[in-house]
Amino acid sequence: MADTAGDHAGTAQTGLPRHVAIIMDGNGRWAQQRGLPRFAGHRAGVEAVRGVVERCVGLGIEILTLFAFSSENWRRPRKEVSLLMELFMMALNREVRKLKRNDVRLRIIGERSAFPDKLQQRIREAEEATAGCGGLILQVAANYGGRWDLAQAAAQLARRVAAGELAPERIDEAALEQGLSTAGQPDPDLFIRTGGEQRLSNFLLWQCAYTELYFTDLYWPDFDAAAFDQALESFRRRNRRFGRTTEQTLGQGG
Ligand code: IPE
Ligand code: IPE
Ligand code: MG
Repeated sequence: MADTAGDHAGTAQTGLPRHVAIIMDGNGRWAQQRGLPRFAGHRAGVEAVRGVVERCVGLGIEILTLFAFSSENWRRPRKEVSLLMELFMMALNREVRKLKRNDVRLRIIGERSAFPDKLQQRIREAEEATAGCGGLILQVAANYGGRWDLAQAAAQLARRVAAGELAPERIDEAALEQGLSTAGQPDPDLFIRTGGEQRLSNFLLWQCAYTELYFTDLYWPDFDAAAFDQALESFRRRNRRFGRTTEQTLGQGG
């Protein structure tokens, strides 16, 4: 949401983030550490997703965005890419019923036209099956890149201008935000990256302008509910100022 500066009120009462975004990194190293093929790490990673989703449902968190496959991950060996696609397919097939039971709405964000037709079809079906769910929004970023998101939002603005619906002078942050794949959602309050790396890797670039960052050395398959709670605890202790002074945010000054 473009109005980020005023958007921290929703978290003030509970101390919980409304929107959590996670880079699930370290699957390959988790497997290598055990002498297993990288794919075993990706499979174990799916289990970890289940745990964190359940925790979010239990806590009443509104949105969980998970980075599953980046627009740069196509650069991996062909075999790994196709195994990841298969795993994605299997997870969609297997988990949808359970998501529905938990009132979880599934959304996939990213450039999905690059996926095999069958996978695109499965994505549509999974989204439709959970469209009526009103609990947690589970947003999976697949073939997603923050720069892609910004470029496609810019293209939408250009089309509206070309169609005479929008004057270029009226293009502001809110107008651009409407074209993003996360349009209408609150920005992530908390960003978590597992696996020890401290970078954004082209995740939600625009949306993370004021997000609290949390890094852990744990590999993603080892990131359980207790580890998630630790991240939430770290978030609770942050003083989010959005440009203001500490005195202002603690309610001591105008
Ligand atoms: C993250 O784990 C999962 C994906 C990118 C699909 P990695 O596969 O990047 O694991 P590491 O970083 O090699 O350990
Ligand atoms: C980021 O992980 C993407 C996902 C977790 C899906 P990578 O492991 O691909 O990130 P880099 O390339 O090492 O930064
Ligand atoms: Mg990695």
